[in-house]
Amino acid sequence: MCGIIGYVGKKNSVPFIIDGLKKLEYRGYDSAGISILQEGKLVTVRAVGKVAELEKAALLANPKGQCGIGHTRWATHGKPCEENSHPHTDCTGEIVVVHNGIIENFLTLREKLSSLGHRFKSETDTEVIAHLIEENLKTACGATPKERLINAVRKTNGEISGAYAYGVLWAQVPGFLLGVKNQSPMVVGLGKDENFLSSDVPAFLKHTNKVLFLEDGEMAELTETGVKLLDKNGAEKPLKPVKINWDQKTAEKGGYEHFMLKEIYDQPQAIEDTLRTAQTDFGKLLNLNTRELRALQQVHIIACGTAYHAGLVGKYYIENFAGIPVTVDLASEYKYRCVPRTAGTLAIAVSQSGETADTIGAIRKAKELGFKTLAICNVLASTLTRVCDATFYTHCGPEISVASTKAFTSQLTSLYALALFLGKAKGNISEASFNSLYKELLTLSKFMADAVKIEYDVRHITKRVYKAPHFLFLGRNVNFPIALEGALKLKEVSYRSAEGFAAGEIKHGPISIIEKGTPTIVLMPADSLFEKMLSACQECRARGAFVIAVTTQEGARLAKDSVDKTIILPYAGELLQPVLNVVALQ
Ligand code: M6R
Repeated sequence: MCGIIGYVGKKNSVPFIIDGLKKLEYRGYDSAGISILQEGKLVTVRAVGKVAELEKAALLANPKGQCGIGHTRWATHGKPCEENSHPHTDCTGEIVVVHNGIIENFLTLREKLSSLGHRFKSETDTEVIAHLIEENLKTACGATPKERLINAVRKTNGEISGAYAYGVLWAQVPGFLLGVKNQSPMVVGLGKDENFLSSDVPAFLKHTNKVLFLEDGEMAELTETGVKLLDKNGAEKPLKPVKINWDQKTAEKGGYEHFMLKEIYDQPQAIEDTLRTAQTDFGKLLNLNTRELRALQQVHIIACGTAYHAGLVGKYYIENFAGIPVTVDLASEYKYRCVPRTAGTLAIAVSQSGETADTIGAIRKAKELGFKTLAICNVLASTLTRVCDATFYTHCGPEISVASTKAFTSQLTSLYALALFLGKAKGNISEASFNSLYKELLTLSKFMADAVKIEYDVRHITKRVYKAPHFLFLGRNVNFPIALEGALKLKEVSYRSAEGFAAGEIKHGPISIIEKGTPTIVLMPADSLFEKMLSACQECRARGAFVIAVTTQEGARLAKDSVDKTIILPYAGELLQPVLNVVALQ
């Protein structure tokens, strides 16, 4: 994932671009760069590291110009270094490209272009785009350089394959930016005498909240005075901008040390907002009548990473309340497995961004198989929501931290609500049970508001264990996916090794990795599986583990002789407790 930004307007573009890149750092931060059109010539500045490094370099180089593009990178092809940082140029140095995504056929194209005399300066897939545009310009039709550029870019799009969104600037067409989208996000901000191109809204939200979400295959032409949208055949489309109501503050850190912490604290609000705006009738949302809902035979949940863990919890919810069998697949696996074409299947894709290529690919496959498709997604008008038959939105606001927190708990909340609705529609739970369970769900945000207060207890305990090289997370039943999520979060954020296990499985091998002092975090609220979890603690301790129980008041009392430390959370009920337990792990 990378972040791109482009500006064209009356003012010096550099501060807009640098500021936009800072807002996009959550998309990647191993290197960054800008290209500015200054008096007919492109000035490019690039730096390894965070945008702050680029800012220093840009201050020294001091480029100035009213049109420019920028990029913040998360390496996928070629190591993080200045040569591999974007923007990338063609042989003439007059065409610059910033790109987010992966060009799958870049090696073939690179060979072909090299044989035609193109000289490559980086190891990236992106650079082929710049050279391909240069090559295609040689034969492109058009009365003006601008028309020729558009045609060359269209031809280029027909030759590259993969997921991409890119911005192009050609020195021969001053004051003109082109944005292209295919399976990676691209948005346009419509300002007054200035327009913006970006991977995401926070990059320009300070300047405009009028946003155009590009569809796959579309191209946007930006000048200081306007924006033109072309469909995949090159025909002009009417602009249908949406007004984004997130204010800049929502998109920024809100006074917290870092975005992840801010987003952990956002959770009570995110849950409340998700439930407040929840569609109270999933039948209508899916355009299914009661008979069709009753005919549902199975649910397939498809997702990646944290969203996959939410899906695993969702399985327990749906099977419990609706009695419908559920399979949960990693999207990257679903795409390649043989999925029987079973009538009455509902496929649910869970994704914060709605732009994860594997999830989109997998749900497309589900559609091809004739399944009804539902997205549980956070980003309005994202690709996934346009592919699926219906979308249930989580309402978390923008997720800036790469590590997912509030998106996860909002996904769990949504899946719980969905399970209740399906249960009612299937006749698996009565109207009265539905009402009382839904009422309970509405209290979740209050429990969450108490749960986030454990920060200081957790900080205290982490001081004791943070140097350990390896961590274990154990859970059972509905808390097993939470153990997986805890391990993912710890790996992602601390770069330490961590594994999550179903507590009943440790005796089948994993227990051997426990040594003296191995921090072992055990999810053990005082519920129906408490006794089982207690014996898991004893087994681990016998091997020398340092056991930290994530539990409830009653659990802490009962476990005091079997664990080393306790983190005490409020108790929201057996099936809702995972939503609180994960906070301790975040
Ligand atoms: O945007 P998505 O929910 O589709 O992203 C899927 C995963 O990449 C994501 O959940 C990832 O695992 C988390 N950000 C990790 O914290």
